[in-house]
Amino acid sequence: MANKILVTGGAGYIGSHTVLQLLLGGYQVVVVDNLDNSSDVSIKRVQEIAGNNGSNLVFHKMDLRDKPALEKIFDSTKFDAVIHFAGLKAVGESVKKPLLYFNNNLIGTIYLLEVMASHGCKKLVFSSSATVYGWPKEVPCTEEFPLSAANPYGRTKLFLEEICRDLYNSDSGWKIMLLRYFNPVGAHPSGKIGEDPRGIPNNLMPFVQQVAVGRQPALTIYGTDYVTKDGTGVRDYIHVVDLADGHIAALNKLSDPSVGCEVYNLGTGEGTSVLNMVAAFEKASGKKIPLVFAGRRGGDAEIVYASTAKAEKELKWKAKYGIEEMCKDQWNWASKNPYGYESPENGHH
Ligand code: NAD
Ligand code: UD1
Repeated sequence: MANKILVTGGAGYIGSHTVLQLLLGGYQVVVVDNLDNSSDVSIKRVQEIAGNNGSNLVFHKMDLRDKPALEKIFDSTKFDAVIHFAGLKAVGESVKKPLLYFNNNLIGTIYLLEVMASHGCKKLVFSSSATVYGWPKEVPCTEEFPLSAANPYGRTKLFLEEICRDLYNSDSGWKIMLLRYFNPVGAHPSGKIGEDPRGIPNNLMPFVQQVAVGRQPALTIYGTDYVTKDGTGVRDYIHVVDLADGHIAALNKLSDPSVGCEVYNLGTGEGTSVLNMVAAFEKASGKKIPLVFAGRRGGDAEIVYASTAKAEKELKWKAKYGIEEMCKDQWNWASKNPYGYESPENGHH
C-alpha cells in the first residue's frame, strides 16, 4: 500500500510542486485548500503532468478552520503523514490585518493538530520560513540562530514553531519537521505550474515576471546602500522543484525512530543580490527589465542565506538547481501563462 499523505494548501505555489513530486514518487495524496490564494487549475495541471499517477490525487475545497469537515476527511482516510502549507503569507497585508493572519494561520494549524491527534496521525511536515531569523547577525544562518519576528506574518511562523515544540514536549509520539524555506522561485520545467499571486506581487521574482510580460512597467529596487557587493539585498533563492524534493526527503526522515521535533533550513547556501537576479532573468528571458531605484523597504534584512549542512547530512537532500535554471523555468512558466492560471488560453478570459 502506497503512503497516504494529506497536503494542506496543496493548490498553492509550493504545495502544487510538492504534490507533483509526491505523485511522481508513487504516493497517494489528498489536498485540502480553500483556494483563497490559488486556483484549482493548478490541481488539474498537476494531474496532467503526473500522467498515470494523476489519479492518485483527491482534492477537497475546504477551509482548515472548518473542523467538522476536517474531521470527516480524517474519519474516511488514514493518513501516514501531513504536509501543512496552508496559510496566508503576504507580509504587508499581515501588518494591516493582523487578526486575519492570526486567525487563519494559528487557528487553522491548531485545528489541524487537534484532528491529527484525535485520529492518531502524529507525523507533520510544516512550512516555516527564514523570516524567523529576522536580520541575522551573521551568515550563513544555522538552525541554532536566535529567532525573532518583524511582522505578524513572521510571528505566526514563530508561534507555530513554538506550538509544535510544546506539542512534542507533551507527547513524544509526535514526529515533526519544521522546514525553514529561504526564497522559493522558478517553476516546474513543463511551464504548466508556477507562482500566480493575487494582486500586485510583493516578492521579487513574481514582480520581475510581471514586468517581463508587460503587466508592470518597471521593477522598483528597494535599497542600493546595503553593505553588499552592489548595494542591493542578498537572498538565498531556491528552485521550487528542489524545495518540493526537500519535502520528500523530510517525509522519508519521519520514519527514522530518532526523529522528534526537528528543524531544517531548505536553501542553497548561495547568496544572490537583487541586481544579479535581475541580470540572470534578463539573460534567460531576453527581456529588458526597466529599473527604478528606491529606498530600503521596511523590515528587510541586508544579507540572508542558509547553512545547508544539517539538511544535507540528516535529510540527505541538497538543492540541485542554480540561478540560471530558476530564471529559465520562471520565464518558461510566465511566457506560457502571462496571467497565471487565469490566462486567456485557459478559457478564463
Ligand atoms: P500560497 O499562497 O501559494 O499557498 C498557500 C495555500 O494555502 C493557498 O493555496 C491558499 O489558498 C491555502 N490556504 C490558506 N489559508 C487556508 C485555510 N485556512 N484553509 C485552507 N487552505 C488555505 O503560498 P506558498 O508560497 O505556496 O507558501 C506555502 C507555505 O509556505 C505557506 O505557509 C507560507 O507561509 C510558507 N512559506 C512561503 C514562502 C514563499 O516565499 N513562498 C517562504 C517561506 C514560507
Ligand atoms: C519576504 C518577506 C519574508 C517572507 C519572504 C518569502 C518582507 C519584509 N519579508 O522576504 O517575510 O518570508 O518574502 O515570502 O516582506 N525586492 C526589490 N523589489 C521588489 C521586491 C523585492 O528590490 O519589488 C528586493 C527586496 O528588498 C529583497 C529581495 O528583493 O532584497 C527579495 O525580496 P522578497 O522576494 O520580497 O523576499 P524577502 O525580502 O527575502
